[in-house]
Amino acid sequence: MTQSLLTEIDHVAIAVRDLEAAIAYYRDTFGAEVVHRERVDSDGVEEALLEVADSYVQLLTPTTDTSPVAKYLETKGEGLHHVGYRVADCAAALQSVKDHGGRTIDDAPRPGSRGTTVAFVHPKGAFGTLIELVQE
Ligand code: CO
Repeated sequence: MTQSLLTEIDHVAIAVRDLEAAIAYYRDTFGAEVVHRERVDSDGVEEALLEVADSYVQLLTPTTDTSPVAKYLETKGEGLHHVGYRVADCAAALQSVKDHGGRTIDDAPRPGSRGTTVAFVHPKGAFGTLIELVQE
């Protein structure tokens, strides 16, 4: 068996309308604390990361009306937005997607939050789930 390119679940991203309310829900209900917050203007989002063992729950809210997350909330409502898989080599994992006929959103790896390198894989061709490849 060959080694999997996916080494860990990095984060599960949930699109929310009210970031503060979602943070309060996770804190009050589960005792989960925010370990990182970041506004990513290039993606039109603000995120809060809650640590769950070696992974995160990423609460995601749009900062502009034209953000893809704003569009997502409009059409699908709040809920699971994407799954971030940790990879050792984002470029190699992205190439494997292309080699296997998958559709990519990012043609090449780019900077993500927390100083990571990321690339998104289109849900069409990935069984309906938006996938983010995350290299730390
Ligand atoms: Co993400």
